[in-house]
Amino acid sequence: MSISTDHRSSLSPAGRRVAVISGSVRKDRMGPTIAQWVAAALDPAQLDLIDVAQVELPDDSLLYPGGGPKSEVADRIAAADAFVFVTPEYNHSYPASLKRLIDWHYGEWRVKPATIVAYGVHGGYAAIEHLRGVLAELSVVTTRRALGLRAPWTCLDDQGRYTPDAEVARGLTASLAELRWWAEVLADARRDRPLTI
Ligand SMILES: Cc1cc2nc3c(=O)[nH]c(=O)nc-3n(C[C@H](O)[C@H](O)[C@H](O)COP(=O)(O)O)c2cc1C
Repeated sequence: MSISTDHRSSLSPAGRRVAVISGSVRKDRMGPTIAQWVAAALDPAQLDLIDVAQVELPDDSLLYPGGGPKSEVADRIAAADAFVFVTPEYNHSYPASLKRLIDWHYGEWRVKPATIVAYGVHGGYAAIEHLRGVLAELSVVTTRRALGLRAPWTCLDDQGRYTPDAEVARGLTASLAELRWWAEVLADARRDRPLTI
């Protein structure tokens, strides 16, 4: 999918930052390949790519309700106005590595939007629905649209880049357009009507 610069800025919320979070940590994982595909659709100036495999979280024994000691990516998550979660499906859900990243933060997520790009043998829809429920608890609004990529390892070009068909590419565009709308609305809402309940 080749995306023009104009198209990329039209999908990135005006003046807002988007964090693309890749949730798997296995050796030879697909996650970064899919995250790169998502990132290519966004304005690089507004993008932060967070690979959970590169993040060292504190020991879970230090976790308490609402987070724990500040993590090394807390400021990056706090700086984001919107999130794209890129997640595989493991045993009908999303991986524990992504849940740890989520649980280690709290206020950083609050009143922000997210869209989900999942993948798996069957498209990763169970991971999408499990993640929606967890994000709702953190006052993260998920877009109606979410993308489930079926066996994306069958759509790699000779350089290992994910190159899906046009319908899948249109699905990403629609999800990001919806995310952009929420990002702008919720950024205004956080400023004008902070959620205090
Ligand atoms: C522990 C484990 C469980 C899996 N369970 C599922 C599953 O329930 N549904 C599915 O569609 N794919 C499942 N898969 C296949 C993965 O979606 C596929 O291997 C994918 O590439 C994993 O993402 P990753 O490479 O980023 O780790 C599973 C893979 C692993 C490693």
